[in-house]
Amino acid sequence: MKPKVLVTREIFDDVIDYLKQHFEVTSNQADTPMDAEALAKNLADKTGAMTTLVDRVDAQLLARCPGLKAVCNIAVGFNNIDLPACTKAGVMATNTPGVLDDSTADFTWALILSTARRVVESDAHVRAGQWKGWYLKQFLGADVHHATLGILGYGRIGRRVARRAIGFDMKVLYHDAQRADAEAERHGNATFVGMDELLASADILTVHVPYSQATHHIVGARELSKMKPGAILIHASRGGVVDDAALVEALKNGRLAGAGLDVFENEPKLNPAFLAMPNVVLTPHIASSSEATRHAMAMLAAQNLVAALTTGRPPNLLNP
Ligand code: DGY
Repeated sequence: MKPKVLVTREIFDDVIDYLKQHFEVTSNQADTPMDAEALAKNLADKTGAMTTLVDRVDAQLLARCPGLKAVCNIAVGFNNIDLPACTKAGVMATNTPGVLDDSTADFTWALILSTARRVVESDAHVRAGQWKGWYLKQFLGADVHHATLGILGYGRIGRRVARRAIGFDMKVLYHDAQRADAEAERHGNATFVGMDELLASADILTVHVPYSQATHHIVGARELSKMKPGAILIHASRGGVVDDAALVEALKNGRLAGAGLDVFENEPKLNPAFLAMPNVVLTPHIASSSEATRHAMAMLAAQNLVAALTTGRPPNLLNP
């Protein structure tokens, strides 16, 4: 008898076929989100699960799934999973690092350019039939070339964002809890600075730190008040790293010129004030969403699940 596994949201058909070679698969291809109760019911008799970042895996859920051995998240971020609770319950947890770095860095640049050069706002203007012809001061934006890019979090994604800035002749500064080695700094032409210097110097600040208790609101009212007046904030890491209410204030009071945001606190119920701000570009947590990358994420999670339940050694094991 094959082990039973649950796939909580729609994934690619060939990934399901791969899973079916090893498991009896229940998959939510209708893609209706499962609430905590539905997740617990569907997972109660399963040995493994492929989850997404909207599925909360905590002690309560685990207590209702006694046969569960592995939870494989289709995301690099895993703040939806209570890792100590998994370890205590003997459940392996995995994520999908590496495969989404370039796509996320590309999308960060989409946010940088569209926010600085007011692409979305001007597109809406044209579509609404409001364009009456060229004039000198129309949709004046901020130059990206030769500006100072500040990167908070110089990990795999932050480094790729830096590398792309070379083509724009930017000065690149970064701050991270750990200074990178000389080769990583050279590759991104990036200079390590303290947090306050980063905030004060960046024309564009882009945030690339994972969410944890330690990074909760790491960009809050204090940090925003130290940013260069007229700067732009870009955020494509995880909701909660930036204090969205404080960001709304910084945008309202004109401290910041704009923001490009792919992630939010309490998404998809984002702070409604953002919706009324034309200087804010809003996207629905899609920074990794190229077809190839989302497929690679799903396949890597599936490979983790197969390895977890066949060998007990998945490549991206998170438990200590
Ligand atoms: C991740 O992998 O954590 C991303 O946020 C998913 O898009």
